[in-house]
Amino acid sequence: MTDSNRIPHTGYFDRFGGRYSPEVLIPALDTLAQAFEEARNDPAFWQEFNRHALEYIGRPTPLLHAQRASESLGGAQIYIKLEGLANTGAHKINNALGQILLAKRLKKSRIIAETGAGQHGAATAAMCARFGIPCRVYMGRTDWRRQYPNVYYMERFGAEVVPVDSGSKTLKDAVNEALRDWAESFLDTHYIIGSALGPHPFPTMVREFQSIIGRELIDQLATKNIAPSHIIASVGGGSNALGIFYPYLHGLAQETLDSSLQNAKLEKYLQSVEHPLLLGVEAGGNETGHASRMNGRATEGIVQGYKSFFLSDENGQLLPTHSIAAGLDYPGIGPELASWGDVGKVMFDSATDEETLEALDFFAQREGLVFALESAHAAAAAIKIAPTLDTHQSIVIHMSGRGDKDLFIAAAHLQPEPWAEFLRRELDDLEPHNKHSAVPGDSE
Ligand SMILES: Cc1ncc(COP(=O)(O)O)c(C=O)c1O
Repeated sequence: MTDSNRIPHTGYFDRFGGRYSPEVLIPALDTLAQAFEEARNDPAFWQEFNRHALEYIGRPTPLLHAQRASESLGGAQIYIKLEGLANTGAHKINNALGQILLAKRLKKSRIIAETGAGQHGAATAAMCARFGIPCRVYMGRTDWRRQYPNVYYMERFGAEVVPVDSGSKTLKDAVNEALRDWAESFLDTHYIIGSALGPHPFPTMVREFQSIIGRELIDQLATKNIAPSHIIASVGGGSNALGIFYPYLHGLAQETLDSSLQNAKLEKYLQSVEHPLLLGVEAGGNETGHASRMNGRATEGIVQGYKSFFLSDENGQLLPTHSIAAGLDYPGIGPELASWGDVGKVMFDSATDEETLEALDFFAQREGLVFALESAHAAAAAIKIAPTLDTHQSIVIHMSGRGDKDLFIAAAHLQPEPWAEFLRRELDDLEPHNKHSAVPGDSE
């Protein structure tokens, strides 16, 4: 391949990316970049990665034909890549696995992470439990509150979850806090960043570990003899979108020596089909705000160690954002996805909070699937696109996560009364004066 975007040793994707880091972190980033290069060229590394992917994550995740949903919309056949069936409920575990294996190579004895929706935190905490490494996760206070089920799981996995009270108390503030920690602790600590952002080598590394999704998808499409017209993924920092778009952007002759899929067969398929439109769906939010960066609303800037598009004011200060999905309200976008968007190889749309909730209900009612609120943004875009296509065409939605974590948010919108009643009952049971009589067999 001659694509200049491949193997960006400098960490640049055209003019985006780079390594704009405080001096103190440069040695840590150099060491990490070198370890990553060595690992990606080491078959033993990929053998171990693939073994855990199979046995622990549950790969490959299925590709489902959503027949009732397709019929109901009366257009294209809808296929859904069920990444939410991965252990811990989302794509984030692929990257957590790859990075913890790197941390082991680097002999790090402590892991830190940031998290927004809690999926990356839960994935990292789970990997740390499995490898017996202490773990601290930074989480903006707003996200800590709204995604508390994932806080619970992180703590059950033995992680320390630290709420962050600075700024907007969301993902970007958690990233700041994790970077601050890492600047003081990198000698014994690895920072597992959760999306394809930050200073080099993080964006390349995260994309590399997530690209297993796209390679698997190509395998599944080739087997079913399907050439979709669209592949649709939600976009926070960009890791699930890059992961599934990867083969169409870079081809399959990947830098990794991952031989779990038969590349020759897949290359043949890729060359024989017309490439689909790759569509990233951002948070359209509501009247109070959004996080749509790629439709001309964001400007170029350098934040959190990399150059990309950011929602910022005329003084370069980041603007407040809003999304019903905690994983999508980040004001920037990972540099590689920004570069593909800039040259029109990835297109962008947005879905509002309301459209997202409608999409959640649509697929629950027709397919018995509960999308994560993040992924339901992609589903919302698919609901608009499918009826404009013929029934012999097909589209793929990336269900990057499942919505267990969103029960408290979704239920409060979709069935507020019964949900409020349930919460009142639960609270009553938790009250100390009720606790005694709640013990089974203790009634007078
Ligand atoms: C299920 C799910 N999908 C998507 C995202 C967005 O992140 P990214 O753009 O890195 O995939 C998140 C972030 O938390 C998530 O939990």
